[in-house]
Amino acid sequence: MKSVYRSRFKRELAGAAASFVSSLPEDRRILDCDILGTMAHDIMLYERGIIGIEDLKAILGALQKIREKGELEGEGFEDVHEFLEAKVIEAVGAKTGGKMHTARSRNDQVVTAVRMRARADILGLCRGVLELEKVLLKLAKKHAAQAMPLYTHTQGAQVGTFGHYLISHVDALSRDFERLMRAYSAVNLNPLGACAIGGTSFPIDRERTTCLLGFDGTLENSVDAVSSRDFVAEVNAAISILMSHLSRMSEDLILWSTSEFDFIEIADEYSSPSSVMPQKKNPCPLELIRARTGRVYGCLLDSLTLVKGLPTGYNRDLQETKPSMWECFDTAASSLEVLKGVFSTLEINRRRMEEASRSGFLTAVDLAEQLVQKRGLSFREAHKLVGAIVKRCADTNRKPDELGREELRKIAVRSVGEDARLGKAFLKEALDPLRCLRRRRSAGSPNPREVQRMLLSRGSKLERMEARLEACVSALAKSEKALLAAAKRYITKE
Ligand code: ARG
Repeated sequence: MKSVYRSRFKRELAGAAASFVSSLPEDRRILDCDILGTMAHDIMLYERGIIGIEDLKAILGALQKIREKGELEGEGFEDVHEFLEAKVIEAVGAKTGGKMHTARSRNDQVVTAVRMRARADILGLCRGVLELEKVLLKLAKKHAAQAMPLYTHTQGAQVGTFGHYLISHVDALSRDFERLMRAYSAVNLNPLGACAIGGTSFPIDRERTTCLLGFDGTLENSVDAVSSRDFVAEVNAAISILMSHLSRMSEDLILWSTSEFDFIEIADEYSSPSSVMPQKKNPCPLELIRARTGRVYGCLLDSLTLVKGLPTGYNRDLQETKPSMWECFDTAASSLEVLKGVFSTLEINRRRMEEASRSGFLTAVDLAEQLVQKRGLSFREAHKLVGAIVKRCADTNRKPDELGREELRKIAVRSVGEDARLGKAFLKEALDPLRCLRRRRSAGSPNPREVQRMLLSRGSKLERMEARLEACVSALAKSEKALLAAAKRYITKE
């Protein structure tokens, strides 16, 4: 089909140049938004007396048909916008169809459609985040008091519980939800009516399209409206941070499913075999979440680098903000889906977690704290004494309760200058992981009571976030329904 725009040219774009400049592949995703945006724009044009009712009826009718077909195809179009206008003109003629694009430009048109699509994709991701949180909370409830080692430097640090560990991810994901919702506020603003860059002499009503399209507000300055893509960087940054959390969760699961840790077993449904080693059960989906996190970071960098050297105004470079943002959305959505499946089918090896909690001196700090509280040592003295006990155990390959009373007294006198009364019963009580957990009393610690409190508070927080999300989803659905109903009323108007 011949281009509807090339009036000042003698010849069509060369084949190689046409496919080079075309954004049709990434525009598939905004076809529907572009149609709705065009419907709203033209309804506003009619309401402001800029086009007639017969024009509006014909244009809306043609747009409706294209929407029902849902196809974006054909050669010779640089993008979805040219496709749409050419198809409408083909259907109703240039006298009428040629009015569709009055008082706007592709520059405000494209970013309107992109913002509409992005807001829907953000809400989709938010839903994925909350669903994963729900699965994690359910698992955390089940294993609230399951003792396990906590690590710093990948070395055993303190004893904790699996439930408490899972809540840590719930909290990080809730911040991701908040970040995505903040990005949503930046995205859900209407640039339509900015025209090419400097507005129009037609008496358009920008607030009207803001309302018809369900935007929260209007992006006022016409230069800003067409030039800015900070919302893309904001979305990609929020998704990058989300991916960093998904990658960390994946890494923990990969590590803990090794035979060396053996804390968990990933279900067959989320494991891949080896072509040669029959014993293998590889955590490939999780490894790919880890790997694709890097690709998402690349998209963030892409969206920032893209705008760095641009002069103010629309530049065709901005077309390239679309593929990277779509990739961020799709990668995060599929990663969330996979992780949700992994966690809901995860087997926990309670015995191994328990055993690991009892080895490696994970309660050494707890013992030091007991020495401060029950024996009156300063924390540094207690740290020194416990360090000496750990060293003796390591040197002689024994456990603390295998050290004799006299031996312990000597270690104490040598390191802190006093006896410290280190009996077997005291050590047993001070080092037992479950007792240690119960003695932890700081807010946010893995004390079972504290974990129960956090589970309750996270449960109700989740409900509040779900309600907030549903309010946004239904507001968008409501405005779309109203727009389509208005279009239908005009199409069938006598
Ligand atoms: N395909 C373009 C994009 O995605 C649409 C805007 C084109 N505007 C222009 N002045 N060439 O950004």
